[in-house]
Amino acid sequence: MTEETKEIKKIIIPVAGLGTRFLPLSKVISKEFFPLVDKPAIHYIVEEVKKSGIKEIVFVVSPGQKAILNYFEKDSDLEKTLIKRKKEKILKELKDFEEMFQGISFSFVTQKTPLGDGHAILQAAKHVKDEPVVVSWADDIIDSDEPAMAQLINIFKTCNAPVVALKRVPMEKVSAYGVVAVEKIANHLYKIKKIVEKPELSAAPSDLVIVGRYVLTPEVFKYLKKSEPSGKGEIILAEVFDKMLSEGKIIYGCELKGEWLECGDKLKWLKSFFYLSLKDPRFKDELRQYLKTIK
Ligand code: UTP
Repeated sequence: MTEETKEIKKIIIPVAGLGTRFLPLSKVISKEFFPLVDKPAIHYIVEEVKKSGIKEIVFVVSPGQKAILNYFEKDSDLEKTLIKRKKEKILKELKDFEEMFQGISFSFVTQKTPLGDGHAILQAAKHVKDEPVVVSWADDIIDSDEPAMAQLINIFKTCNAPVVALKRVPMEKVSAYGVVAVEKIANHLYKIKKIVEKPELSAAPSDLVIVGRYVLTPEVFKYLKKSEPSGKGEIILAEVFDKMLSEGKIIYGCELKGEWLECGDKLKWLKSFFYLSLKDPRFKDELRQYLKTIK
């Protein structure tokens, strides 16, 4: 290893996509705020950030998108109203929520036009300078004892190169994902050889697909800066990785432990909603009983 491995303190979370798979609902609510049981998807992501020991979040938002700030910031007026109305239990829940995210700093950059996930990350470049950073999409939740971001950071500490989260999916489903060709180097750890975006089943190099969690190094930002928008006019992170691979750069893949709860389209979101609801001790028994009664 030539360079000293730098500690990871920051995460970039782009939430400026159009969410076309949820139109027309996503015209008024971005998919990061769709609830899963009683919390929006972004809440689960920020919980994972906290558990992974990351201290600074840079959100990439669309112009005028204030919901994230409103959601996580303390609301003193609301607290006063709850005190006046003697809603002690609800007030305590609200305060517990606010305390949960103390110690994490939030900042925001705007992506003026949704020109792709890679373009969104690039908008946060000035916040990360020459340090490695975690990137997470907000529509992939990983239910795991060891937080997914921490799993990636641990790999980065030993290899000091970009790390991409991977999961196995049934072979007949691979065509919906970015699929990787790999060389296995240890349990759950791979060198990525190639990325094939949404391949025909016959052309898929494996059943390992990319999940929306990464560790990016300053070198990835150099590639992002010089990349041109591709076919659809967007800068796509997976395409930038593929370019790096074709030039002999090393990118690692970490097969994540835990359950992958996808929320990027309607059916996936519904399944994730059911998964989490049926695990929630507050609701699971009655919900299971109720489901049995539906014909
Ligand atoms: P997706 O690939 O899920 O795209 O983005 P999308 O636009 O949100 O949704 P669809 O495909 O149209 O239904 C992955 C992540 O990158 C962000 C999204 O908000 C999501 O967290 N993103 C994507 C941006 O911030 N800006 C973009 O231009 C594109």
